[in-house]
Amino acid sequence: MAGGQPISMKNLKEVRAYTSKFGIRIIHDMTRVAENAFFIQQREKGYNKKSLREIVKEICSYTDGATMSAKKDALVNIGGFMATNEWSVFEEARNLVVIYEGLHTYGGLAGRDMEAMAIGIEESLSDSHISARIGQVEYLGNKMIEFGIPIVKPIGGHGIFVDAKAFLPHLTQDQFPAQTLAAEVYLDSGVRTMERGVVSAGRKADGKNYYPKLELVRFTIPRRVYTQAHMDVIAESIYSVYLKRNKIKGVKMIYEPKYLRFFQARFEQLK
Ligand SMILES: Cc1ncc(COP(=O)(O)O)c(C=O)c1O
Repeated sequence: MAGGQPISMKNLKEVRAYTSKFGIRIIHDMTRVAENAFFIQQREKGYNKKSLREIVKEICSYTDGATMSAKKDALVNIGGFMATNEWSVFEEARNLVVIYEGLHTYGGLAGRDMEAMAIGIEESLSDSHISARIGQVEYLGNKMIEFGIPIVKPIGGHGIFVDAKAFLPHLTQDQFPAQTLAAEVYLDSGVRTMERGVVSAGRKADGKNYYPKLELVRFTIPRRVYTQAHMDVIAESIYSVYLKRNKIKGVKMIYEPKYLRFFQARFEQLK
């Protein structure tokens, strides 16, 4: 659920009402819950006086469990957790964690990492932190818009998505427009981005590629790492690639791993 995109409380309530009818659990991917809560506070009627904590608590009240990759909104270097409201599920998970991670008291994490996570969760729900965080992403998005770069709107909470099909309209999807654009930005400035297009979509059971409608490049901004001056460098880099976009030829895949190819595939520039 949510998958990093802003949800509305209204939508979540509807999903809860629907799933309850059929006895279906809602397991919340709360990796980006602080950002989502912020958008609810800013955009949804009736929430502008509620604190982020209250909003997160309300989201959780409509769900049966949650998972979190704490490297994102919980502000830590490593770690995550799962949570459940059901005792039987908890007992099963507590037993499984011994096999895969370590004793349930630390779940494969060092005590100091768990402590950092607890502090990170607190800090991530402070209005000043989250508005500065999302403000930085917005700053980058607005710079790109000023330069005429086609991006997905409205600007989101954790990164900017550049529309590679609009950026490189002369490339076919078999020439991997989003992968090409990610490589060009890296060559220009060393800025690392992420393909979200045909490479990420992978193959169907019959071995043929999925051809998703969107070819996007995700400029994901780590928290508390960069200054606004870094945002300027990123915007200037994508702009310099934009100026020579007509000469960009695309790439071909020269190595494809069996699983989740977008992490490890290798490409060569077309001549
Ligand atoms: C919403 C969401 N959930 C889960 C993950 C995966 O996190 P990890 O790489 O720690 O498994 C991501 C990564 O970007 C994410 O955005």
